Amino acid sequence: MRRWVRRGARVLVVVLAAGAALVPAACGGGGEPIRVGFSQLSAEGSWRAANTASIRAALTPATGFELTFSDDEQKQEGQIAALRRFVADDVDVIAFSPVVEDGWEEVLREARTAGVPVVLVDRGIATDLPDAYATHLGADFRSEGERAGRWVREHAPGARVFELQGTLGSGAQVGRQRGFRAVAGEQVAGAATGGFTRAGGRDVTAAALEAWPDVDLVFAHNDDMALGAVEAVRAAGRRPGVDVRVVSVDGTREALRALAGGDIAHVVECDPLFGEQLARLLRRVAAGAEVPSRTIVPGGEFDRSVTAAQIDARAY
Ligand code: AHR
Repeated sequence: MRRWVRRGARVLVVVLAAGAALVPAACGGGGEPIRVGFSQLSAEGSWRAANTASIRAALTPATGFELTFSDDEQKQEGQIAALRRFVADDVDVIAFSPVVEDGWEEVLREARTAGVPVVLVDRGIATDLPDAYATHLGADFRSEGERAGRWVREHAPGARVFELQGTLGSGAQVGRQRGFRAVAGEQVAGAATGGFTRAGGRDVTAAALEAWPDVDLVFAHNDDMALGAVEAVRAAGRRPGVDVRVVSVDGTREALRALAGGDIAHVVECDPLFGEQLARLLRRVAAGAEVPSRTIVPGGEFDRSVTAAQIDARAY
């Protein structure tokens, strides 16, 4: 457990052992909104759009927040610049979804020195810097990859797999790849990144089907790329779901429709709708209350038995 305590106009980072006695000063109480600077990594697809909408809906003046939102277009330098602006603005809390895992030490050291607590949202980072951030809220990407791999082992043990990776070096790509390979690694014939976009998924799968003609299963690290892969399979004159199966992660409405129709074979859910959970966490961090270092957003799985009611109920 960690706790951050506000002192005067700025925030002093104090990391305590669980249970240590220290009274947190009020932040965001007494009518004062909690000032949050949030750097979203981009608007690359439908999952991200839903995630942004959920966060924006939860962090409003009516719920006690003053949100400064920055869309940083898949650029780490843009995110670092946004974080520096938030520090200079002396926000109460910084939250951000890191586009990649590495390379955050310098800016996080600056935030720590300035006493501004940082919350990781969705993706994680790789760092040795002690107390680099207060807490991390997001899915367990490795487990998502493992579950996709288990489905492949069970339902397509002889398949030759093309792994359609997300943004290289991102927490989602690294975790899903590790998890999948731990379970079904020997079935992977080749891999390349489609950058988590539908167009990327289509183009890269088209090239992969030529490079590895024996590939008969695509593991896509997200639904947008999976839908692009389905287009590429068709364009190559092969039948999605029959000649080439596609397994995916996210659980968007469009992907579940493709699942029900047979174009996609299996979907592991990654839930983007955690805005309210984030709001609760930010209140605690801003108030100097103890928070867990990691909170996992749970997700289920969908197979061909997905119903029309489930698809219609999807919010993204
Ligand atoms: O980090 C979460 C991943 O990022 C989602 O699976 C994907 O759709 C998005 O681009």
